Amino acid sequence: MAQAGEFLAYGRQDIDADDIAAVVRALQSDFLTTGPEIDAFETEFARWTVAGHAIACSNGTTALHLALEALGVGEGDVCIVPSITFMATANAARYCGAEVQFADVDPDTGLLTAETLEAALERTGDRAKAVLPVHLAGVPCDMESIASIARKAGLKIVEDSCHAIGSLYPDGSMVGACRLGDAATFSFHPVKSLTTGEGGMITTESAELASRMARMRSHGIERDSSRFVREEGAHEPWYHEMPALGWNYRLPDINAALGRAQLARMGEFAARRRALVSAYRKGLAPLAPLVRLPDDPAGSDPCRHLMNVLIDFDAAGISRPSLMHALKARGIGTQVHYIPVHTQPYYVRRYGRMNLPGAQAHYARTLSLPLFTRMDEADVMRVCDELGAALRA
Ligand SMILES: Cc1ncc(COP(=O)(O)O)c(C=O)c1O
Repeated sequence: MAQAGEFLAYGRQDIDADDIAAVVRALQSDFLTTGPEIDAFETEFARWTVAGHAIACSNGTTALHLALEALGVGEGDVCIVPSITFMATANAARYCGAEVQFADVDPDTGLLTAETLEAALERTGDRAKAVLPVHLAGVPCDMESIASIARKAGLKIVEDSCHAIGSLYPDGSMVGACRLGDAATFSFHPVKSLTTGEGGMITTESAELASRMARMRSHGIERDSSRFVREEGAHEPWYHEMPALGWNYRLPDINAALGRAQLARMGEFAARRRALVSAYRKGLAPLAPLVRLPDDPAGSDPCRHLMNVLIDFDAAGISRPSLMHALKARGIGTQVHYIPVHTQPYYVRRYGRMNLPGAQAHYARTLSLPLFTRMDEADVMRVCDELGAALRA
């Protein structure tokens, strides 16, 4: 439980003595950057998501960039990105030299849907190369219908799963298992459900994709002699080649050690998050219809990273900034996820103004309430009570 009267941020990390001990052990070891902790973290993360391969990298943004690059996204291509996401989802396409086609979203869930993907595809034509469904707040998109449209259109699928560690699709498979997508990306930023400080991971079923991403995260360097293109020097112990231009997107062993310790508690974290969300469902019910939490997509079992609720500010007679200030004064932190990315000045300059009514309707009503594993049901009730009091005031 949070301390009595403690300020409840919208999200925060959960670090215990085992996490600290794991980091200290890594610091005392021979490896600070890529070493045995990386291999072990990748193996354990692949096991957790039930994916064939997992590649660790420096953050969720570089995870997206590596995945798109490995899938061959480049200049002349277009990536379809829902407008309700963190800007990194779109920016990763731009890093590859591709353009972004923003898709609209369901106004309640904020998720990309089959219909909004089809509309975006129609606007794009045959330059569409990839789609990046975002499992916003940890709630899985309807991947069956999205993947069926994407496959027909020949699109690669990168699931931005940065919010969705531990979430389950309706068929019971784990987000990240890549049953329908080519790759899934994760972020381990401190507000996410599992943290390494900064850090990221990509999962995939493709061994070829995994080995390209592993090379490209370290300058594009090839050390496997069977893949060398030059004969000379191949027998020399220091020899390596750089067949393609990569980056330094490596995750240090210190961070991977923290990730492993956190992953060992991920089952416990997921159970806590699910329990807190059910407490929110009960606690928020009396505030309907002013405050609503959309139903989860049928059959899915999200492990929520964000407690983003919909508030009818007009009907409540209070503006969002005033409500946020009032809650802050009552010890409750809130945040807005997200400003539609198509309205960011960089993208307006590039693509002009777009009309995406679902994204605007979601943005107008969304507010993220506190959700982190050190909270308990009494903290949730405190948030619901304070929210009700602020709305009535
Ligand atoms: C949906 C989404 N995608 C990508 C990212 C980028 O992750 P990172 O901050 O680790 O680079 C984030 C981080 O907030 C995110 O929320």
